This record gives sequence, C-alpha cells and structure tokens, in this order.
Amino acid sequence: MTSATTSFSTQRNEIAGHSVAEIAQRFGTPCYVYDWASIARRIADLSAFDAIRYAQKALSNIAILDRMRRSGVVVDAVSAGEIERALRAGFVANSHPSGIVYTADVFDRESLELVVKHHIPVNCGSPDMIDQLGAVAPGSNIALRINPGFGHGHSQKTNTGGAQSKHGIWHTAIDECLIRADRNNLCVTGMHMHIGSGTDFEHLAQVCVAMEQACLEVGRTVKTISAGGGLPIPYKAEQTYVDLEQYYQLWHATRNRLQDKFGHAIELEIEPGRYLVAESGYLIAEIRAIKAMGENTFYLLDAGFNDLARPILYGAYHPISVAHRDGSTTQLEREVVVGGPLCESGDIFTQEEGGFVSRRQLPAASVGDYLILEVAGAYGFAMSSNYNSKYRVPEVLIEDGQLKEIRRRETADDLLRLETIPE
Ligand code: LLP
Repeated sequence: MTSATTSFSTQRNEIAGHSVAEIAQRFGTPCYVYDWASIARRIADLSAFDAIRYAQKALSNIAILDRMRRSGVVVDAVSAGEIERALRAGFVANSHPSGIVYTADVFDRESLELVVKHHIPVNCGSPDMIDQLGAVAPGSNIALRINPGFGHGHSQKTNTGGAQSKHGIWHTAIDECLIRADRNNLCVTGMHMHIGSGTDFEHLAQVCVAMEQACLEVGRTVKTISAGGGLPIPYKAEQTYVDLEQYYQLWHATRNRLQDKFGHAIELEIEPGRYLVAESGYLIAEIRAIKAMGENTFYLLDAGFNDLARPILYGAYHPISVAHRDGSTTQLEREVVVGGPLCESGDIFTQEEGGFVSRRQLPAASVGDYLILEVAGAYGFAMSSNYNSKYRVPEVLIEDGQLKEIRRRETADDLLRLETIPE
C-alpha cells in the first residue's frame, strides 16, 4: 500500500535513472516519458481485488496495454478504437474475467458491431443500450452501470454521479431495466458504479452501500460487482492517497454480505485509470522564450495545452520541475507563469479553475533548459490533440533500465494524411 505523504522537488535532472537532458536530446521535445516501475507498483497495491480492470482512457498506448496484460490486469474500453487497441495488445474477450469489457452510455454503430463480433461483455450505462444489444445479441450476459444519485470528482467536470450527470442508469430505473433485459433474453450478471474521477474516501465509501442495495434489487443473477475507478493521487504535497486497505475491506464486506444472501461467489473488480498511471508520466518540454510582461515573468515552452489539456480544462495543478541543460542546479528561484506556444491566451499550465493565471516558484532557468510537467501519465497524452496543427509528441517507456520509444513524433505527412482537396 502507498505511503500517505509525497514530496515534489522543483529541480529534477533525472527520471528513473535517466538524464532528462539525454532523453530530451535523443527523442526531442516535447515528449512524454513513462516509468513502468511506477505502474507496476500501483498494480501491486491493488492486488487484493479479484480483477483490476484498467480504464485505458487514461493512457491508451498499446505498449502500456500490453504490459498491463502481462501483469494480469484486464481492460475497460469505451469506444471502438479502445476495443481495437485492447485486441491489438493481445486481450481476449472470452477469458475469465473477460479481458475486455465495453462500458459506455451510448452504443455508436461501430462499437456495437465490434462488441457483437468479438463477444465482448457490455456494461450498459443507458436503458436503450439493453434493447440495442438485445436486438443483435440475444442471450448475452450484461452488466448495468448504475448512477446512485450522488457523485464526486476533483472537478465538477469529472463528477459522474447525480442528476446533473449523463452517466449510468438512474438508481430507480433498475426494475425497468430488468424488464427490458427479460424482453431481450439478456441476463444481468454484473453491477457497476463509478461516481467520478479524483474523488475521496468519504464519497467512495458511500458507493458500497448503494451497490449493495442495487444488487439486492437485481437479485441472484449478479456474479460480479465493480467498484469503478476514481481513486485520487497526490498532485500536491498536502494531498493524500486513499487508505487502500480500508477501502478494500469495505468492498470485501459488501461482497461477503451479497455472497451470503445469494449463496454463490461474487467477484470484486476495481476500475482505475489515474491511480495506475498518473505518477508514472512526465512531459518534458524545452523553455523556448522567457519574457517579462508587467509584473509577470513567463517561461514559454514548446509544449502547450494540445499536449497536456488538464490545466486549461479543469484548472488542474501539475507539479513542475526544471532540468538545466548542463545538469547544474541552482539556489536561485523566480516566481513565473508557465505557458505554451499556442495562439490562445488559455495556453497556460499555471492556471486555476476559471482560467485565472497563477504564478509558481521555480528555479531560475534560461532558454534551452528543460521544464518537466510531472504526474502527467493519466489523461495527458490521451487527451492531446493537433490543435494549431501541432504534431503529437513521442511517448517513451522506461523499462528495465532502458528507454523505449512506444510512439514516434508525428510528421507533416501524419498530420495531413486524411485530408484531400476536391477537384
Ligand atoms: N471507469 C469509468 C466508467 C470512467 O468513466 C472512468 C473515468 C474511470 C473508470 C477511471 O477513472 P479514474 O480512476 O481515472 O479516476 N480527464 C479527466 C478525468 C476523466 C475521467 C473519465 N472517466 C482528468 O484529466 O482528470
């Protein structure tokens, strides 16, 4: 289990034993680097659960998925593209527990087709999905994703419970769903709740209670329950981890009571994204300009919100460190605003929710030094884009002491490959 406190340094010359300057020179900047050892530790933390189902939306590179699979982790997929990634990484749907589960609130036509073709179990987040699946795959087992009527997240935008959220089947609609399932010859064997991302122990604990009630309503066909994801990790020194032992015990007790009632085994899954990968990831950028603007000094990087969108989307805080090009350290600090290259004022990494620019105390640096956005493994590259026609950056995995490129930098050809000018 993880320790309760974390500390972040604002100077970092290496990542998992590799010099930042060397990584930057070998792969160019910006680039994402992931330390596999960190992911492996987080997987081990959750080993008490019967299945760890990785929410690959957090970081979906197929090399990461492959390593997850080899470590005994299974995956969640939310789209046709995520199903294709999981298949490419070697997951099989008909293993036990299923290597892939499709969880969504909507079936688009591609995902419905793939789910049927590969016999992928579906976790339905809307009653309509039951009829849509029943029409093409009667006789299947399904899970229901229930919205328990409350939720919580690090931002209102990542709260997935309650009536303002579009997610899940409303907790009073279970009966109606069972009728729909019967009508379609589908059997509800799984129950799932995910109330938000970056939540806290207090809210997560309430989910066990809601889950027990929902399972009792469905009855003895239930064989698997999923606690969803949402486990927080510290982005700031004062933030803490959830006590995983206590969390597991709550769910274990819930599962035991259901087993007693139903008279058969209930499997307990957890579905984390952030917890597994956030701390493994670093976005290395180069400082390309330093300028004073009134009372502010800006460090302007070659990475922008096209590479890491969390600050502009949620006012999310990421620890930032500096690596001097020559490997030196300094006692000198400056209060700076850190921004990117995009033609948009919101392209600022040091901002708070609402877009208010804030300053950060960072080591004095020069143009050509490196700046590292840390704890960037989750929802970092995965949410990156080609905005301003920027090329998406390479991803590098550090594994067994070696640097392995797992996605190369895009080129102009990659950027333009799908576009045509009509006659
Ligand atoms: N299960 C379901 C059904 C989900 O929708 C999600 C996340 C997870 C599991 C994993 O949640 P986690 O363990 O990572 O908290 N882009 C936002 C986070 C959005 C989360 C979306 N769903 C961010 O950067 O904070």
